[in-house]
Amino acid sequence: MSAPALVLQTPAKINWALEVLRKREDGFHELALVFQTISLWDELFFYKKEKGLEFSILESSAPLEADDSNLVLKAARLFFQAAGLEPGIRIELKKNIPVAAGLGGGSSDAAATLWGLNHLFETRMSLEKLQSLAAQLGSDIPFFLTGGTALGLGRGDVIVPWEPSADFFLVLVKPDEGLATPKVYQSGKAAFTTGEKARGFEKILQTQDPEAVARGLFNGLEPAAFSLLPVVQSLKNSLLEAGALGALVSGSGPTVFGLVENEEAAQTLARKMKAQAAQVFAVQTVSQGPRIIP
Ligand code: C5P
Repeated sequence: MSAPALVLQTPAKINWALEVLRKREDGFHELALVFQTISLWDELFFYKKEKGLEFSILESSAPLEADDSNLVLKAARLFFQAAGLEPGIRIELKKNIPVAAGLGGGSSDAAATLWGLNHLFETRMSLEKLQSLAAQLGSDIPFFLTGGTALGLGRGDVIVPWEPSADFFLVLVKPDEGLATPKVYQSGKAAFTTGEKARGFEKILQTQDPEAVARGLFNGLEPAAFSLLPVVQSLKNSLLEAGALGALVSGSGPTVFGLVENEEAAQTLARKMKAQAAQVFAVQTVSQGPRIIP
């Protein structure tokens, strides 16, 4: 088999803060949220071919269909349509990021697909153009084109990049069950707030102090995730009891992350949590989106 023309790694995210401001007329919720990419990566392999669009999943940590509902395929179709090109690509996905987890894995794969095809076919679409295509596919996909640390506004699709943060160390715990994002938003249990906590996070991150970051953590979807899946609350309590400085549901859940002082503390906490959750990862923050693997 020939070598891939391009290999990308694309990261998962957590949200330091997620505030739901109000329900909009289009059915979405107006948000102010802080995105942060972390060192847990999916891998995408691109092979050029004469004609057509092929997609397969090489390995996955969870059952996942390589069908039309997959965001990689949707992103590839949208790219070729917008570029006015005949498709000619095979894409393979190695899935390491848990699915339906609140970690943005599918969104990250979609963003990397747009980014990778733009690179490979030398179509020179601007970041703005890629962001507008990404927003058609899902609310948090524009963020993953650039990754790092950013404020998200609107339905999460309007990205204000922030300075790269210092390295912070986290432990992610993901229960067996997933949570469907629409169910979490529509549960009637989300807390509505003003957006000040999310906007104020830029200053908190500048302190580079994990304890200050831990004090600022906030997620208005947390009560909804707890009520749909009570084990999420138990996992949060366990992280705190096991020594995390702070803990929070990521996005719409059900993954909970615990923040600790350093890498060693993350390894220790991850070992303690392994008895309690199906999937446990010790990770750190990273300041990028998709990256080319030579
Ligand atoms: O945009 P995305 O496809 O990720 O959104 C999935 C679902 O999550 C939406 O259909 C909607 O029910 C909910 N959602 C929302 N407000 C947002 C983002 C998502 O209500 N800002």
